[in-house]
Amino acid sequence: MKLSSLLSLSLPLLATAQTAAPYTDAKSGITFNAYVTSNYFFGLALPENATGSDFIGTIGGKGTGWSGASLGGQMRNKLLVLSWPNAQAVLSSFRKTAQYGSPAVATGTFTQTPIANGTYVNSTHWTYTFLCSNCIQTDGTTFKSSDTTASIGFAFSATAPTQKTNAGSAVSKHTSQGLVTFDLTKAKNANFATWKSWAAPKVARGFEA
Ligand code: HEM
Ligand SMILES: *[C@@H]1O[C@H](CO)[C@@H](O)[C@H](O)[C@H]1NC(C)=O
Ligand SMILES: *[C@@H]1O[C@H](CO)[C@@H](O)[C@H](O)[C@H]1NC(C)=O
Ligand SMILES: *[C@@H]1O[C@H](CO)[C@@H](O)[C@H](O)[C@H]1NC(C)=O
Repeated sequence: MKLSSLLSLSLPLLATAQTAAPYTDAKSGITFNAYVTSNYFFGLALPENATGSDFIGTIGGKGTGWSGASLGGQMRNKLLVLSWPNAQAVLSSFRKTAQYGSPAVATGTFTQTPIANGTYVNSTHWTYTFLCSNCIQTDGTTFKSSDTTASIGFAFSATAPTQKTNAGSAVSKHTSQGLVTFDLTKAKNANFATWKSWAAPKVARGFEA
């Protein structure tokens, strides 16, 4: 077997050992605890005295494919966030599925509202920063606000969704996925309330940011 084949086989194992680290988005100035690679990133910011159900999230990727995160770690029966760029905009939705396969749009009391200067598409990457309200659930579909660490799932593909102008589009399977341990104490920030106040709907069309 060639060395390149061995390396690609070992990648999923390496990915499960990843952890999140501090990351500040250059355009918004918001600091997250984030899992960052050259092709994918997902970050969380929480209130300093976290007791509520809100967080600020950032998700992004390289090129024109999709990036997803599982707020409960595993893909199945957890609350997922699924986002992708369309020209200069970013589309995003909540998803949930009981089975492996393109997850259906999920509805509930949770909402996501973009933070404008943390949402952009540049020549290499796209970034979507959002207030996730009522997103920390108590039904086991997400981490809990009392958790000190959380297992967060990541998944991405370089292939754009079939209907990239529809936030509810089906997607093809990820080419990379795994679990990352987030130290939630490092996601807490005294500036949370200020950052939260920057969230505002940009357009009236669905989840488009
Ligand atoms: C057609 C679409 C999809 C298919 C067929 C699919 C299928 C699968 C399968 C079979 C696995 C187990 C590992 C493996 O055998 O590869 C998996 C894992 C995973 N998937 Fe998906 N998936 C899809 C879309 C998504 C989306 C949109 C997300 C996130 C928004 C996601 C998040 C994850 C995560 C975090 C894992 C790793 C944790 C786990 O195994 O549960 N998947 N997926
Ligand atoms: C991002 O936008 C907010 C609200 O408009 C603003 O207060 C903040 O200074 C901006 N961030 C940067 C780094 O300019
Ligand atoms: C585009 O944005 C990403 C995410 O903020 C950043 O890492 C990257 O350096 C930016 N690329 C360019 C060419 O500015
Ligand atoms: C968090 O609680 C500490 C201790 O009560 C307090 O000093 C601090 O101001 C609180 N932070 C915020 C953002 O309310």
